[in-house]
Amino acid sequence: MGTLRIQAKETDGVQTERMDGNLGFRGTVDHQIIQNTRRRYKRKLGFPRMIMDDTLFQMKSKIVKRRKVEEGRQCKLKEREITRMEGGKKWKILFFGGTGYIGKFMVRASVEFGHPTFVYARPLSHLSRVPPASNANRLRDEFRGTGVVLETEHEKMVSAMKEADVVISTLPYPLVSAQLKIIEAIKAAGNIKRFLPSEFGIEEDRITALPPFQAFLDKKKCIRRAIEAAGIPYTYVSANCYCAYFVNRLLRPSEQEDTVFVRGTGDAKTVLNYEEDIVRYTIRLSCDPRACNRIAIYRLPKNVISQNEFISLWEMKTGRSLKRVHILEEELVKLSEMLPDQDNISVSLMHSIFVKGDMMSYSIKEDDFEVSTMYLDMEYTSIDQLLDIFLTGNAPPPAYAAFA
Ligand SMILES: NC(=O)c1ccc[n+]([C@@H]2O[C@H](COP(=O)([O-])OP(=O)(O)OC[C@H]3O[C@@H](n4cnc5c(N)ncnc54)[C@H](OP(=O)(O)O)[C@@H]3O)[C@@H](O)[C@H]2O)c1
Repeated sequence: MGTLRIQAKETDGVQTERMDGNLGFRGTVDHQIIQNTRRRYKRKLGFPRMIMDDTLFQMKSKIVKRRKVEEGRQCKLKEREITRMEGGKKWKILFFGGTGYIGKFMVRASVEFGHPTFVYARPLSHLSRVPPASNANRLRDEFRGTGVVLETEHEKMVSAMKEADVVISTLPYPLVSAQLKIIEAIKAAGNIKRFLPSEFGIEEDRITALPPFQAFLDKKKCIRRAIEAAGIPYTYVSANCYCAYFVNRLLRPSEQEDTVFVRGTGDAKTVLNYEEDIVRYTIRLSCDPRACNRIAIYRLPKNVISQNEFISLWEMKTGRSLKRVHILEEELVKLSEMLPDQDNISVSLMHSIFVKGDMMSYSIKEDDFEVSTMYLDMEYTSIDQLLDIFLTGNAPPPAYAAFA
């Protein structure tokens, strides 16, 4: 409401300013009005043509100048409006899983946006036996160096919440149910303005998948229902495919393979969004009152593409032609029934995304929104541009999500 009032007032201010004292032009004067005025001048005052043109030229320059001022004001207004809509201040964001694949992008984006950033991490001792320990250490050092506060003790969960405004979980799938503890802590702390649970995939309330992937989705749905039952303000992020993650899996650019596996016919449309963009949109949403208790769907228009289309695009960019080996739908269904846990989830997920085209199979409800429509000021990376990043060798390295 506040924003609307200010906008109306300022807009009025611009509109009621006269562009020309004699004519009483308003700020929204356009070419048609100039033409009409020219006729009025001629009819009423009988000005000689030359003077008319000169007068109009001056008027036009004034109008253009005024328009520029107005555009500048509108821009500033828009920025102010966005800041206001997003809370008008830097919200404190607490992350769970902040050192993970998507978590690290998320934390870096939060710092870039200037939010005081906290990462709730496990004590390092649990990592001492596994090789990625050095990697986790390096990330933690990097975060500390940028002013991120690292919390490491489980008992501190509630007190960590008390320091924060927003909680974003990027915990891996095996820890989806562990988020019930986060929900309990949010309830106990009582001050959290927004919770974004670990979703960042397909819109789980809107599709039905093969049983192994459906079980995966059902687990995530349980968390949604628990959040709603607890009355915690939320934003659910249906980010669709992490683009670099899937390009690494499907095209395997680092392996320079001549063969590419195509799930099904390869014609179903899917959505591949660059991780860097997903996190920037997510950080903005997390502090934006307009996104409260809503589902954000990331169908960035330039990133809706089929497997066949992006394989062709890659062939064009690399100048290499790839042998396409199709894995038929029936085979995928059979594999989802036969393979052990984890592998069966992965196969049925691929079936949902690339054979059924589930990321594009439903329409966006009135209450939900497509994220890019909310932030028209934000540029995002198209698949075409992301493939260029792969060609430069600067793309994120291959990663595998944990399913168990
Ligand atoms: N849309 C897509 O294309 C796509 C692709 C992959 C994943 N996803 C989704 O993205 C979300 C995040 O997945 P991810 O692959 O980024 O996760 P991840 O890389 O596996 O990261 C998990 C992080 O969680 C923490 N963690 C792991 N085990 C833990 C434990 N036992 N206790 C406490 N913390 C633990 C770790 O942080 P610390 O060690 O610092 O505690 C780790 O850095 C999931 O919801 C997943 O389904 C989506």
